[in-house]
Amino acid sequence: MSPFLLTRTLPEDATDAALRADVLKGLTSTPKTLPPKWFYDAQGSELFEKITELPEYYPTRAEREILVGRAGEIAAATGARTLVELGSGSSEKTRYVIDALTGLHTYVPVDVSESALTQAGQALAGERPGLDVHALIADFTGGLVLPQTPGPRLVAFLGGTIGNLLPAERAAFLASVRALLSPGDALLLGTDLVKDERVLVEAYDDAAGVTAAFNKNVLTVINRELGADFDPGAFEHVALWDADHEWIEMRLRSRTAQTVKVPALDLAVHFAAGEEMRTEVSAKFRRDGVRAELAAAGLELAHWWTDGADRFALSLSVAR
Ligand code: SAH
Ligand code: AVI
Repeated sequence: MSPFLLTRTLPEDATDAALRADVLKGLTSTPKTLPPKWFYDAQGSELFEKITELPEYYPTRAEREILVGRAGEIAAATGARTLVELGSGSSEKTRYVIDALTGLHTYVPVDVSESALTQAGQALAGERPGLDVHALIADFTGGLVLPQTPGPRLVAFLGGTIGNLLPAERAAFLASVRALLSPGDALLLGTDLVKDERVLVEAYDDAAGVTAAFNKNVLTVINRELGADFDPGAFEHVALWDADHEWIEMRLRSRTAQTVKVPALDLAVHFAAGEEMRTEVSAKFRRDGVRAELAAAGLELAHWWTDGADRFALSLSVAR
């Protein structure tokens, strides 16, 4: 068994304060919004894993196909001794990269979901003798402080999670990733690609209703953490393609006129019948756009790999 260390970089009351601030701001905005990072309590992380197995949800399978084919090239190009993974979740696909990196010393999975980190971190520490696993419970958008470990460093951000950030958030995020890297260190980035609208919408509105349950889970989190009285059944799951922004938007549509109480915020929020609240964007990308966003952050695109059906891309960029 290798060492497995779990560090909470934010005290629990800071997480609670961040949730309160986000919910207060989002529920008093017009239109109402909620940030997607609050989907991922233990139940939300489990629902996400179920989504990755749905026939309609192609991104996980497409990215895995690329990783299986390219892990050797990624290892040869980076020679990483430390692998940091942002939004690591189950770390399931990351194993291909970990296995290929023969000189790997430390794996640092970073996630807001303690349950996902504990499960993935313990499994990896058991399976990979000699590998240090230093898991961090942290928000990857908020000034990460990484443990001192040997370079070269490779930061992985898989699954297309970068698409869940709004454009201005993405620019700030990429600049903060660049600040974690020394010249020659690298970023391995998964981006879902623009494609046929029907394929995209079905991936976010599956027939079994798992994505609908994932979407509504944010209401359950707010009920539990802030004492709110959201009735998830009083909201309908909506997934639509915004062709101007080239992103999928998930929303919750109020089935009736209703008022929801959030005692921890001393707030009563009115929803009109049919009113929609945005809970997530999932941006889809093109090669030139990714290259430009990376360049603006001081990262140079070195490799661009797609799956056989050109649905998803994995890029490797290098800090200048
Ligand atoms: N990388 C995995 C999981 C993707 S799901 C894959 O490719 O399958 C997105 C993950 O990011 C979840 O585990 C969620 O808990 C985490 N996450 C979302 N927002 C986050 C944030 N702001 N900071 C840290 N982790 C976050
Ligand atoms: C984590 N992220 C990349 C997923 C996505 O596809 O945007 C989250 C998700 N939302 C609905 N289904 C999956």
